[in-house]
Amino acid sequence: METVRVELGRRAYPIHIGAGALDAEPLYRSHLRGGRVAVVSNTVVAPIYSARVKAALGRAGAQVATEVLVEDGESAKSWATLERVFDGLLAARIGRDGLIVALGGGVVGDLAGFAAAVYQRGIDFLQVPTTLLAQVDSSVGGKTAVNHARGKNMIGAFHQPVAVVADVGTLATLPDRELRAGIAEVIKHGFALDAELVSWLESHLERLLARDTEALSHVVRRSCELKAQVVAADERESGPRALLNFGHTFGHAIEAGAGYGAWLHGEAVAAGMVMAAELSVRAGMLAADDAARLKRLVQRAGLPVQGPPLAWERYLELMAGDKKASAGRIRYVVLQGIGQAILRHDLEERDVRAAIAAASAKPQTAASR
Ligand SMILES: NC(=O)c1ccc[n+]([C@@H]2O[C@H](COP(=O)([O-])OP(=O)(O)OC[C@H]3O[C@@H](n4cnc5c(N)ncnc54)[C@H](O)[C@@H]3O)[C@@H](O)[C@H]2O)c1
Repeated sequence: METVRVELGRRAYPIHIGAGALDAEPLYRSHLRGGRVAVVSNTVVAPIYSARVKAALGRAGAQVATEVLVEDGESAKSWATLERVFDGLLAARIGRDGLIVALGGGVVGDLAGFAAAVYQRGIDFLQVPTTLLAQVDSSVGGKTAVNHARGKNMIGAFHQPVAVVADVGTLATLPDRELRAGIAEVIKHGFALDAELVSWLESHLERLLARDTEALSHVVRRSCELKAQVVAADERESGPRALLNFGHTFGHAIEAGAGYGAWLHGEAVAAGMVMAAELSVRAGMLAADDAARLKRLVQRAGLPVQGPPLAWERYLELMAGDKKASAGRIRYVVLQGIGQAILRHDLEERDVRAAIAAASAKPQTAASR
């Protein structure tokens, strides 16, 4: 078992990583404040893992008062589902000294985390992430949210968990497509922040795809270390934390433009990173060979290297609407080298257009329809 710490003063917390972590009661014990505990999970994950989590909580001395199960999928990140979570917490008389345990992927983590942020003005929550994406990214850093019809993650709060228990053993049951989507975020951490991680991935990708425990533990630990450093330096994303959005500006446009649900978040980020690397090359900042390394790795991971066939105007429109655009200007996370992401908002539109054209399927024209 390995532990990475997120150093945030009074709100510092550990991330425990390893196979079997889910069952280790000491990992929960120190976070119980005597109150009642609610497990929030979904209808896919709970049947596989919740009995084990509840048993470990019980051994740690917790009184698990309720289990709230939400529907599977992104649609659970809604106001209506949040109300159901509050109903469950209130019915079980979870108090200010209570604890919410979020058991599942990024959807459950974001939803349960937001519930914890506002329930009785804020109670503790502990993340038990069960997707690779959640273990390497979403369970760390304290961003919680639900979606609004007008945009993803539009209603949310910063609320750090008291701990993260990342059991890589749970990834054994993850669908293949979801595993690959999680690998996209690992590739992102490497290309944005850590050239060594990129070399490691180039040598060990097959082990990762085969779900080798050691390989999974390695990428979860390294990703958490990188994210923990960035979050400790800039918890509320006023500066360096934005570098973690490498591939996300284009990625969000891909997700929205293709229609939510058609592309997984990680798939959109993968093609978005290829676009951002193309942009970096066109802006004269990155060697074409380095962009080619990114594209090759994305391809080897079975992830898309091309965005959907949308007109470039549509991409720009969707990117300008993203909440990461500041005052209408689109900020791009681009690469100066492998592991060296920087933020720029002064790039030429013609370079952006060329990057989109280079990394997206051709839009349909009137003649080809
Ligand atoms: N808070 C953040 O910083 C942050 C960062 C990145 C993404 N996100 C959010 O995360 C969400 C995506 O998370 P995700 O990719 O984990 O999706 P998800 O939570 O929908 O999980 C993917 C699928 O895998 C299933 N599943 C989960 N664990 C499983 C397991 N061990 N075995 C079998 N099936 C399992 C889920 O039920 C679901 O069907 C998005 O809503 C995104 O906005 C948040």
